[in-house]
Amino acid sequence: MKSKASAPGKVILFGEHFVVYGVKAILCAIDKRITVIAEDTSERKISIKSNIGELELEPNKPISEINSPLKPFYYLANKVIQNKNSGIKISVESEIPLGVGLGSSSACCVAGAAAISKLFGNVSKDEILKLAIEAEKTIFQNTSGADCTVCTFGGLMEYDKRKGFTKIGSEPNFHLVIANSNVEHSTESVVKEVSKFKERNEKEFSKLCEDESLLIENVLELLKENNITELGQKIIQNQEYLETIGVSNDKLRKMIQIGYETSFGAKITGAGGGGCIFALTDESNVENTIREFKNKNYECFSVKIDFKGLDTF
Ligand code: MEV
Repeated sequence: MKSKASAPGKVILFGEHFVVYGVKAILCAIDKRITVIAEDTSERKISIKSNIGELELEPNKPISEINSPLKPFYYLANKVIQNKNSGIKISVESEIPLGVGLGSSSACCVAGAAAISKLFGNVSKDEILKLAIEAEKTIFQNTSGADCTVCTFGGLMEYDKRKGFTKIGSEPNFHLVIANSNVEHSTESVVKEVSKFKERNEKEFSKLCEDESLLIENVLELLKENNITELGQKIIQNQEYLETIGVSNDKLRKMIQIGYETSFGAKITGAGGGGCIFALTDESNVENTIREFKNKNYECFSVKIDFKGLDTF
């Protein structure tokens, strides 16, 4: 039997890093997807094929001994076939650039959890999310769970590490222009650096958490009003907090400056240190913003909010 699932990537609009420490974040799923096809096999092996490589192993290997970015798929397949007499073949296709802060690994975990578990019966979205977060923890132990949550449920949402997510009812008509620094980053190591910053600057960090919480409350109001100009100002303010905790660098700052020229505001999305930035635009400035980045030789594209989330076939 074969089963297929796809999950969207994501942009963190506000609150990355602070969300790890209990501050609310605002995220949206984007209209670029990862698709996973899973097939049960009579041979008791787990094999995974994707455009970042291949992995083929017997079941029941200790996860700590696997050194591959495809480890979360192995974890999921191995867990699901524990009491079964079969193997699993997995193939992965991605429209999302990998490892640059657009939720490729969370979307892999969500679509992987759905496709693999659906081979053996129906599973709810809540259960898939739980499995996906377990799988994500094999590569990033300290995850807040925000990315897998938005990749599962889609749309625009506020997320709290302890309380979970609340969908935001408004459907703002903005376009996000994403520009890629093409500098790979490891979310885990950037999150570790931020924890060191916090240890060295406890007071300053807790003030930044308060400021970020306040900003998020303001943003929730602005989203209801669809006030894109003010939202842009909040994005610029959020970027300042990210600068303070040390997750930006010269290349990202340069890109953000390009974004400022034509858009309402621009900031890092995701862990930072490399990866992508986004610029907030609407119909009036989306093309100009893309042109600015392309003229300066940055890989760049625009996305809209995906309201569907995880899809299974
Ligand atoms: C990574 O996309 C977002 C971080 O806030 C980490 C997390 O929330 O798990 C940096």
